[in-house]
Amino acid sequence: MSKHWWQEIVVYQIYPRSFKDSNGDGIGDIRGIIEKLDYLQNLGIGAIWLSPVYQSPNDDNGYDISDYEAIMEEFGTMEEMEEFLFEANKRNIKIVMDLVVNHTSDEHQWFIEAKKSQENPYRDYYVWADPKSDGSVPNDLKSTFSGPAWKFDEASGQYYLHLFSQKQPDLNWENQKVRQAIYDMMNFWIDKGIGGFRMDVIDLVGKKPLEGITGNGPKLHDYLQEMNQATFGKHDLLTVGETWGATPEIAKLYSNPDRHELSMVFQFEHVGLDQQDGKDKWDLRPIKISELKEVLTKWQTELGDEGWNSLFWNNHDLPRIISRWGNDQEYRIQSAKLFAILLHMMKGTPYIYQGEEIGMTNTAIKDIREAADIETINMYSERLANGFDKDEIIESINAKGRDNARRPIAWDMSENGGFTTGKPWIALNENFRDINVEAALKDPNSIFYTYKDLIQLRKDHPIIVWGSFKLLDTVDNVFSYYREYEGERWLVVANLSDETNEFSSEDSIDHIIIQNSEDEIISLENITLKPWQAFVVKTK
Ligand code: GLC
Ligand code: CA
Repeated sequence: MSKHWWQEIVVYQIYPRSFKDSNGDGIGDIRGIIEKLDYLQNLGIGAIWLSPVYQSPNDDNGYDISDYEAIMEEFGTMEEMEEFLFEANKRNIKIVMDLVVNHTSDEHQWFIEAKKSQENPYRDYYVWADPKSDGSVPNDLKSTFSGPAWKFDEASGQYYLHLFSQKQPDLNWENQKVRQAIYDMMNFWIDKGIGGFRMDVIDLVGKKPLEGITGNGPKLHDYLQEMNQATFGKHDLLTVGETWGATPEIAKLYSNPDRHELSMVFQFEHVGLDQQDGKDKWDLRPIKISELKEVLTKWQTELGDEGWNSLFWNNHDLPRIISRWGNDQEYRIQSAKLFAILLHMMKGTPYIYQGEEIGMTNTAIKDIREAADIETINMYSERLANGFDKDEIIESINAKGRDNARRPIAWDMSENGGFTTGKPWIALNENFRDINVEAALKDPNSIFYTYKDLIQLRKDHPIIVWGSFKLLDTVDNVFSYYREYEGERWLVVANLSDETNEFSSEDSIDHIIIQNSEDEIISLENITLKPWQAFVVKTK
């Protein structure tokens, strides 16, 4: 497998609305990101995945795009976007744009035209179907954001498909004109000097909705090969597909370099481990660390040279990992560092979600009126109507709701954490006076510096990027593995528990690479790991 820049870097995801507001309207913006580029350079990242900044009515915070070649007014202007690209490139940071092309906004010009009549030249840009003879929906496909995936358009007499909100009509990828328009738009951005694309729910674009097929449709990989050829294939860009249902076999279809599709995919198998079998994300069950080890080991070992991993705990759709599987109270700092060490020592390209590097936590709500996210709000109404207990729904929201990740970043201890001088679009977490960037930068033992060290280690040691992976046999809550490369061996040990746990290995220590406690580790034989202790040693 030939080597690429995107295998050796760490990516940082920015959710612009909540990152930094520069003009006091309470909404993060591009100018705010430019102001913080030095901070990101200090952290050491090589690329930014920028959640959507395109023109959008914000039904789903920018994931409903009404013009792909214009910038959302609240975020700034195209000139500012170009300035941002220039300033980022100057610091060796590439910009990976979010590519949301499974659907547009219903306010996109294409859809406005398409709705006009069944004969309109844009009609076929979207997915339409006649009502059943009794007038009801074409079939029982469901929207991810609750309710049916079909909405009747009175004026033109057909249903259109929306796998997400009613304001996110699905594009018809079978229409060659749609694909060409998307490739032209991608080239518009490539010509501006971007570093790649993160492809929103890309596994859905091959859908056959009338046959009930949404993910992994028959033409999916043909389309991606065509896209590769028509756009980024000629450039060495980072392309990462969001693929909820991927198995290692499917991930190889996307990311085997011989197939000329994508650099890598986001796989979500580990993300589903705390939900009840066959139920959805709101139906909780405790995570079993033994299962987490099994799933991550499978992904570490099964791709081989035929694919590339992405590594992540968090993103804008997921709750904060330390609140979810760590301990965000007594062991907040230790568990945050443990999750960082455990992931950043693995093979693949790590992604950090904004605020993860300072150990931000979930934010509980008491009332649905505090929620902003459309998925959360729709689910609440639906479950309430279906007789669920209100407190139980709120509990699920506090555990899994997307607003958890979308609270503004606190930059300092001042009012609103220095995020804005105005009224933030969504309230900050109440703990922002303890958990903020200024405090993190001042404390040499902060979570921030663990991330910074991990990123530097990846730059300095090819074993992290290229080494093999082997899981060690340990007690359930201890996650331990070897990395090996050119005769060198590193041992990673992590205790994912509020309790102490025993660990033992016959390896002798050459030296300690990184750890999350001050403890001296002299031998690996019969040691007692403290709660949430993690360390990495080079063995002799
Ligand atoms: C992806 C995005 C999510 C969005 C959805 C629809 O899952 O990550 O935020 O709501 O697609 O675009
Ligand atoms: Ca602003």
